[in-house]
Order: sequence, then C-alpha cells, then structure tokens
Amino acid sequence: MGKIVSVFVVLGFLVLNCFANFGSHAQRLPDDEVQTLQSIFRKLNFRNGQVNQTSCTEGSWNVTIDDSNGSNFTCDCTYSNNTVCHVTVILLKGFNLAGVIPEEFGNLTFLQEVDLSRNYFNGSLPKSFARLQNLTKLLILGNRLSGSIPLEIGDISTLEELVLEDNQLVGPLPENLGNLKSLRRILLSSNNFTGSIPESYGNLKNLTEFRIDGSNLTGRIPNFIGNWTKLDRLDLQGTSLEGPIPSTISQLKNLTELRISDLKGSSSSFPNLQDMKKMERLILRNCLITGRIPEYIEDMTDLKILDLSFNQLTGPVPGILQNLKKIDYIFLTNNSLSGTLPDWILTSEKNLDLSYNNFTESSPATCRESRVNILSSFSSTGSNSVSWCLKKDLPCPKEAKHYSLFINCGGSPTEFEENDYEEDLNTQGPSNFGIVSDRWAYSSTGVYVGNESSKYLAANQYGLNVSGAEYYKTARLAPQSLKYYGLCMLKGSYTVKLHFAEIMFTNDQTYKSLGKRMFDVSIQGKQVLKDFDIMEEAGGVGIGITREFKDVSVNGSTMEIHLYWAGKGTNAIPYRGVYGPLISAITVTPNFEVDTGGGLSAGAIVGIVAGSCAVVIILLFILWRLGYLGGKNVEDKELRGLDLQTGYFTLRQIKAATNNFDAANKIGEGGFGPVYKGTLSDGAVIAVKQLSSKSKQGNREFVNEIGMISALQHQNLVKLYGCCIEGNQLLLVYEYLENNSLARALFGNAITKITYTFSLHLWN
Ligand SMILES: *[C@@H]1O[C@H](CO)[C@@H](O)[C@H](O)[C@H]1NC(C)=O
Ligand SMILES: *[C@@H]1O[C@H](CO)[C@@H](O)[C@H](O)[C@H]1NC(C)=O
Ligand SMILES: *[C@@H]1O[C@H](CO)[C@@H](O)[C@H](O)[C@H]1NC(C)=O
Ligand SMILES: *[C@@H]1O[C@H](CO)[C@@H](O)[C@H](O)[C@H]1NC(C)=O
Ligand SMILES: *[C@@H]1O[C@H](CO)[C@@H](O)[C@H](O)[C@H]1NC(C)=O
Ligand SMILES: *[C@@H]1O[C@H](CO)[C@@H](O)[C@H](O)[C@H]1NC(C)=O
Ligand SMILES: *[C@@H]1O[C@H](CO)[C@@H](O)[C@H](O)[C@H]1NC(C)=O
Ligand SMILES: *[C@@H]1O[C@H](CO)[C@@H](O)[C@H](O)[C@H]1NC(C)=O
Ligand SMILES: *[C@@H]1O[C@H](CO)[C@@H](O)[C@H](O)[C@H]1NC(C)=O
Ligand SMILES: *[C@@H]1O[C@H](CO)[C@@H](O)[C@H](O)[C@H]1NC(C)=O
Ligand SMILES: *[C@@H]1O[C@H](CO)[C@@H](O)[C@H](O)[C@H]1NC(C)=O
Ligand SMILES: *[C@@H]1O[C@H](CO)[C@@H](O)[C@H](O)[C@H]1NC(C)=O
Repeated sequence: MGKIVSVFVVLGFLVLNCFANFGSHAQRLPDDEVQTLQSIFRKLNFRNGQVNQTSCTEGSWNVTIDDSNGSNFTCDCTYSNNTVCHVTVILLKGFNLAGVIPEEFGNLTFLQEVDLSRNYFNGSLPKSFARLQNLTKLLILGNRLSGSIPLEIGDISTLEELVLEDNQLVGPLPENLGNLKSLRRILLSSNNFTGSIPESYGNLKNLTEFRIDGSNLTGRIPNFIGNWTKLDRLDLQGTSLEGPIPSTISQLKNLTELRISDLKGSSSSFPNLQDMKKMERLILRNCLITGRIPEYIEDMTDLKILDLSFNQLTGPVPGILQNLKKIDYIFLTNNSLSGTLPDWILTSEKNLDLSYNNFTESSPATCRESRVNILSSFSSTGSNSVSWCLKKDLPCPKEAKHYSLFINCGGSPTEFEENDYEEDLNTQGPSNFGIVSDRWAYSSTGVYVGNESSKYLAANQYGLNVSGAEYYKTARLAPQSLKYYGLCMLKGSYTVKLHFAEIMFTNDQTYKSLGKRMFDVSIQGKQVLKDFDIMEEAGGVGIGITREFKDVSVNGSTMEIHLYWAGKGTNAIPYRGVYGPLISAITVTPNFEVDTGGGLSAGAIVGIVAGSCAVVIILLFILWRLGYLGGKNVEDKELRGLDLQTGYFTLRQIKAATNNFDAANKIGEGGFGPVYKGTLSDGAVIAVKQLSSKSKQGNREFVNEIGMISALQHQNLVKLYGCCIEGNQLLLVYEYLENNSLARALFGNAITKITYTFSLHLWN
C-alpha cells in the first residue's frame, strides 16, 4: 500500500515523515537504527530527541528550534514487504548544533540525504560518511569544519551534491573526488583550500554547478573545465588562479551564471562566450581582459547582470547593450572605454556603471544622482563643458579650501572628540554616485551575489552592544567597490583614520557568528590593507578599530579612499548577500598648519563658514523675490554684492553650544528675540540670536541682519559666523565680544539705523 503519512511542519517543530503503511503496526525501525539515532541525539544534545521503534509511524519528534529552515526526517517504510522502516533523509538545518559531527551517521546506511547546514559543528568531516553507499546529498554549509576533506568522501560513488561552503577547511582538494562521476553540484566556496584544481576533476562530466570562491588556489584555470558541458553555474571569484580564461570555456553552452574575478597572470582578449545564449549573470571582473566588448553579448537575451568592471576593455560602449531587454545591471567601471557616451545610456532606467573610463566628448550629463554612474569617466584634458564629476580625478571646480573630513559612514550626524561627523544615509547602491556635500562624495558599485535586494547600509540586527564611539553603531557597505572622495582639499599631507566595526554577525555560539568578511583598501590608489578582516583585527564583533595612515598626500584636490571586495570571505552567513567592504567612519586631518586668516578661531571659521553659504544666499534670494527685503530700489546686482561670508550651523550644534538655550546662558533680549552665549565644540565662544519665529517680520530682520553684518568688515562691528534655519527656528551666530560692541550690534533699535547706514554705504 505504501501510503504516505506526513506530519506537517508547524513552525518550530521537527517533523518525521514516514513512507508508511498506514494502520499497520508492523512497521518498525530496526533496533540498531533506534540505538544509533539515540546515540546521535545524545551527542548532539538534542532536546526531545526521543526515538523508538515506532517513531516513524507514531507522533513526531518535537524539538524547539530557533530557526525554521524546514528541518525534518524522512523514513522509508517499504522494506521487507512494508514491515521495516529506515531513515533515509536527515535535515537538521539552522539549529546551531555544536560539537563534532557524530561518527554514527555512518551507521545509518540507508541515508540518502544529510543536510546539517548552518549549525555550529567543528572538527573534521567524519570519514564514516563513506559507509553510506546510497548517499546522494551531503550538505554542511556554514559550520566550523576544519582539516581537509577526507579522501574517503571520494568513495561515495552515489554522491550527487557536495556542499561544504563557508567552513574552515584547508589543504588541497582531494584528487579522488574526480571519481564521483555522478556529482552534479560541488560547492566549496569560502574555505581555505590550497593547491590547484586536480586534473581528475575533468571527469566530472555531470557537473552542473562548481563554486569555489575565495580559496587560495593556484595555477592556471584548467582547460578541462571545457569538459563540464552540462555546467549551469561556475563561480571562481577571488581564487588566486591565473588567467587567461581557457578557450575551452566556449563549450559550456548551458551556462546561465558565470563569475570569475581577480585573476592573476597575463592579460588576454575577451573569452569566447558566443554560444552561451542562456546566460543570465555574467561577471568577469578584474580578469585582465583587453580589447572590445563583443557584439554577441546581444544574443544573451536573458542577461540580467553584466559585470566587466576593472578590466582593460577599450573601444566604445557597444550599442547592442541597449537591446538587452532583461538586463538590470551593467558594470563597466574602471576600463578604458572611449568615444562618446550614447544617448540611450544617459536616459536609461537600468543601473549602469560606466565610471572611470576614458570617454572623450562632452555630454549633457550633470553631476546628479541617478542610476547611471559616469563618475570621473572623461580624461582631464576634456573640454570645459564637461561637468567636474566626470573629469578624471574630480578636479575642484573652484578654489580648494578644505583640509579635514569627518564622515559617519552609513549613519546620522554625530560628534566625537569635538569633531562633527557628517551623516551618510543615502540608501542607493548598485551604481551610485552621491555628492553628499561640497566636501565629499561617494561611489558604490555592485549587486550582491545570491541576494540582489540586500542593503547598502549595514544594520545591527542582532542587538550587538557596540562599544566605542557612536559612529561604530552604523556602517556603509557595498558588494563590490565603495569609494569615498574628499573634495576640494588643499594640497598637502594628511592623516587618514578609517574606523571599522563588524556589526552584521553575532558574538554568540551560533552559525550567525561564523561570517568572515574580507576586503582590500587603497588610499590615493595605493593599497594599504589587503584581505582585511575587521572581526579578526578587532578581536570580535561590535568592537571598533581604527587603522591610521599618517602621510597621505593630496597633490590635486581630491582624496580617494577605495574599499574593494576581491571575492574572499563568506557570503552566505548569516544569510546570502552578507559580505563586501564595510566602513563605520572616516577621519581626515591635515599634517600642516592651516592659515585661517583674520586671527579668528580656526575651528570656528572652518567648521562654520565652509558649510553652506548657499543656503543663506538662496534664502536671501527667495525672500527678496517675495518682497520681504524692503528697500525696493535695491537692484539684484547690489544683492549679489553682498559677498556673504557666512556659514551654516545645525540646530543640534547650537543647542550643544548653548546648553539647549539654557536660561543661564541668556545674555540679553533684543528687539526680535533673546541672545544666548555659547561655546562651540572647538572652544570658540559665540553669541546666538534667536528670532522668535519665522514670522514675516522675523525673516526680514534675519535677512537684513545677515546681509548687513556679513558684508561688513568694520572693526567695531561684531563678526557674523553664520546662521541656522531649522523647523521654525531662525538663529544668527556671532562672534562673542565682551565689550559694548556686541550689545550695540545685537540689541535694540540700533539695528534699523545701522542697516540704513550701511545700506547707503554699500549700495550707493
Ligand atoms: C515512540 O516515540 C514517539 C515519538 O517519537 C512517541 O510518540 C511514542 O509514544 C513512542 N512510543 C513508545 C512505545 O514509547
Ligand atoms: C512541542 O513542545 C512545545 C514546548 O516544548 C510544546 O509547547 C508543544 O505543545 C509541543 N508540541 C507537540 C505537538 O508535542
Ligand atoms: C522536509 O524538508 C525539506 C527541505 O527543507 C522540504 O523540502 C520538505 O518539504 C520538508 N517536508 C515536510 C513534510 O515538511
Ligand atoms: C507481503 O505482504 C502481503 C500482504 O500483507 C502478503 O500477501 C504477501 O505474501 C507478502 N509477501 C511476502 C514476500 O512476504
Ligand atoms: C556505529 O558505528 C560505530 C563506529 O562508527 C561503531 O563502533 C558502532 O558499533 C556502530 N554501532 C552500531 C549500533 O552499529
Ligand atoms: C541502496 O539502494 C539500492 C537501490 O535503490 C537498494 O537496493 C539498496 O537496498 C540500498 N542499500 C542501502 C544500504 O540502503
Ligand atoms: C549523469 O546524469 C545523467 C542525467 O542526469 C544520468 O542519467 C547519468 O546516470 C549520470 N551519470 C553518472 C555517472 O552518474
Ligand atoms: C589559510 O591557511 C593559511 C595557512 O595555510 C593561514 O595562514 C591563513 O590564515 C588561513 N586563512 C584563513 C582565511 O583562514
Ligand atoms: C575531457 O574530455 C575529453 C574528451 O571527452 C577527454 O579526451 C579528456 O581526457 C578530458 N579531460 C579530462 C581532464 O578528463
Ligand atoms: C595564499 O598563498 C600564498 C602562496 O602560497 C601565500 O603567500 C598567501 O599568504 C596565501 N594567502 C592566504 C590568504 O592564505
Ligand atoms: C542543456 O540544457 C538543455 C535544457 O536545459 C538540455 O536539454 C541539454 O541536454 C543541456 N546540454 C547539456 C550538454 O547538458
Ligand atoms: C584615453 O584617451 C586618450 C585620447 O583620447 C589617450 O591618449 C589615452 O591614452 C587614453 N587613456 C587610456 C588609459 O586608455
């Protein structure tokens, strides 16, 4: 009869499925099998792991689990004329089971599938699995397995899937895995294998998937990969293998996903992929490929991702790319593509990254945020009409003036050691250039393997208690390449501090703690960190560390900090798509004396004036247009003559300076509101005039006062540092003077008179 009894999974319960003769009490698990299972459960410290001879047909094994991954057991009860059951499938995924994998698995000789992925097993892979002569699937992704793969695994002639990704296995790949002629999937990425891929693997003609990212494999990419004609997916990212990609690859006509990156060796032209019409994801990044992008890419009509970045491709961007109807992402960044940028690119709705190429003619493109990133793609000799962000090295469009940079990567504005770290909260990623302020910009490239919707801002989703500065609590990350640019910086030597904290893994004894993130960092084109592993360097997760680089020179006006994923580390822990360079904050300070002029406190001027005069000018202009500015005979050019030397403050800064407008700091009440004394984070003493509300009168007063005082350099007058417009707050920030001039300038009726006087002086 062989009726199937399925005890269905309720979230959180382990279920035993039995191919059982319903109603018969004759079906039993043999006694030795019961004992073996009991022994295994005991060793795994498996709560409720009760088992007896009727377990396949009665009740269920109820186990509390912390993760629901569809774990269950399956019995086949059709043996001996439907009287005997055997366990054939054991799926125990995401339970964080610890210790070594019990040898006793090898006694369950009827097993066909074993999946122990995402647990916390350590020790070596038991040789006893070789006794399972009907085993087809052995999956142990995301554990702590160490040592080398036992030779005995090569004796499981029935094996079709071997998944040992994301472990700590070492040593050479066993030669005799080449005997496993039934193997379809072999996933060994993110281990620490060495040596070359054995010649015998050329026999694995049934392979559909071969993945071995991130191991330190050496030698050439073997020619015999051409024998894997059934291959559907090939991943060879970050392996240390040498190019060129062998010509035999042309035989892999069924490939839908091909990922090769960071090859060593010599350069070569584009490999022949002409017959791969089923290709959906083609990634050949940093593979030393020269020459043109072949036209036959057009025939890959299912193509979703094309990544040919970091090669030496030349010639124009082929027009055929616009015919790829299913394409979502194209990355051609860091090549030597030339010619004009076709119009279709500039109007494309796809994510296109063409940054860092060698285009020659100007285009109507501007430095805007869009899905199309053409950052720094034009040679610096290009015409002046080319926007600055498209020119090589991002030359400063005006006079360079910055000499410090503080960014809270992936986070909100924060203060640390009296420096204000700017916010960096843009959520865009795959091909993004964001100009965040006039001081800095960032560029992010890439799409996460196996999880295209993964985020570009790191989240501390497991409630880690992150120590150290506030900025360690957040971070920005990218699947591929992340660049931060300091813009319009003065020439000279700087100290760069990069702050890192791993916040995406846990610090408990679960598989979620087993992630390994590795990336490289270059500053000004020079590699300063290789295979950098935050967690290892910091000694754990949630711990901030800083890497300091003392003599970074800016010869032009741009500082470039580049973080790059070279294919190493895990990318499926805690879940697929967690990997890539991650950074918490950036601190750049000058190694030279800065002449701030005028004898004013350096911090005050720099921190403030640089901010955004534009805000004030724009405000002025709007108010002027709305008629709030009075003086109807004053002309535009006169307004422009104001040459505002003012900066912009945040309300937070001012609240901090005045102790949240503490009454104790109030030094007077002017015609339009109170005045407070305050101290900025750099020690500069200020007077803050608070205009009660954004009333019409207030605006007029505000603008008059900014316009007037900022334009004045008269010694007896107080210096206006800047302003703040936030919510209904209008605030003016002045230099604080002890003597009467402050009072004269800030209080009472004198304002109108002074305005008038200086209006005459300036505008007549
Ligand atoms: C056998 O174990 C099952 C759970 O696996 C339980 O429901 C059943 O009551 C047990 N039977 C005996 C006879 O102990
Ligand atoms: C499974 O165990 C949980 C807690 O141990 C209990 O609340 C629940 O009722 C059990 N379910 C079954 C079907 O035995
Ligand atoms: C057992 O687990 C596998 C893999 O997770 C799943 O595909 C299958 O549906 C599960 N069976 C039952 C009855 O839950
Ligand atoms: C198998 O079982 C059926 C009924 O349960 C019986 O008729 C048949 O003779 C059995 N066959 C053998 C080989 O025992
Ligand atoms: C199970 O295997 C171990 C060795 O792996 C062996 O010592 C033991 O006798 C076996 N137990 C049974 C019940 O077969
Ligand atoms: C292995 O599979 C074959 C064919 O399915 C079967 O006849 C044999 O009994 C199985 N052996 C074991 C030990 O499971
Ligand atoms: C290879 O795969 C085919 C079809 O999937 C299968 O029929 C054949 O038996 C496999 N070859 C080996 C050696 O397992
Ligand atoms: C890989 O193994 C080498 C020694 O063979 C060791 O030095 C290195 O740290 C290991 N790397 C990783 C990522 O485990
Ligand atoms: C690849 O296949 C060809 C023909 O099937 C065979 O001659 C060659 O030996 C194979 N290469 C390897 C390394 O198995
Ligand atoms: C890779 O191997 C090379 C040479 O064997 C060695 O120098 C290097 O340190 C290894 N890298 C890693 C990450 O293990
Ligand atoms: C390629 O895939 C098709 C269907 O997807 C299949 O019919 C064909 O046999 C495959 N070719 C090879 C060489 O495996
Ligand atoms: C960029 O193009 C110019 C000519 O337009 C050429 O002189 C230069 O060599 C090219 N640079 C690269 C890196 O290809």
